[in-house]
Amino acid sequence: MEIRGITKDDFDTVVSVLDRWWGGPSGQRADPIFFYEFGATGLVAEEDDEVVGFLLGFVAPTEPRTGYIHLVGIDPDWRRRGVGNQLYARFTAQCRAYGVTQLKAIAAVGNDGSVRFHEALGFTATEHAAYAGPRRPRMVFVKTL
Ligand SMILES: CC(C)(COP(=O)(O)OP(=O)(O)OC[C@H]1O[C@@H](n2cnc3c(N)ncnc32)[C@H](O)[C@@H]1OP(=O)(O)O)[C@@H](O)C(=O)NCCC(=O)NCCS
Repeated sequence: MEIRGITKDDFDTVVSVLDRWWGGPSGQRADPIFFYEFGATGLVAEEDDEVVGFLLGFVAPTEPRTGYIHLVGIDPDWRRRGVGNQLYARFTAQCRAYGVTQLKAIAAVGNDGSVRFHEALGFTATEHAAYAGPRRPRMVFVKTL
């Protein structure tokens, strides 16, 4: 398995598989800014020339400086084989090089697979009732590096 930086062809692949990998209409989650503006920190996992996972993220100039994982997805046929773990490990290494001291991600309340995954990787999961606005709760995952 190879973990490498995302290309435009990879981004196009991500857009085309997203609905299937996420189990419903999800195309708008892959906003093109995550390639054109934040592609330097975007990653894909490749096996035999096939993309089997991706991570779209960026470094936020907040205090503390934060590596934010906007979207991560693994091919359903490749889950629970450590692909997500490897993508996060590479993203973490990139973030450290940018002086990042905290990682953050969010998920919909009820996405228990995501909660278990982030907790397994050492994140603290907290539910925020109005994180995305009134009656728009989110699970917030934070990890200090
Ligand atoms: C969540 C997701 C990214 C995990 O990727 P993955 O490659 O399957 O995860 P890994 O194999 O690296 O798992 C690492 C550990 O996390 C935990 N974990 C991962 N998925 C889990 C699940 N569905 N249920 C319980 N624990 C889970 C386990 O402890 C696992 O270790 P183990 O398999 O040795 O027990 C993947 O399931 C996915 O793409 N889900 C759909 C999209 C999504 O929800 N993205 C997250 C919100 S941005």
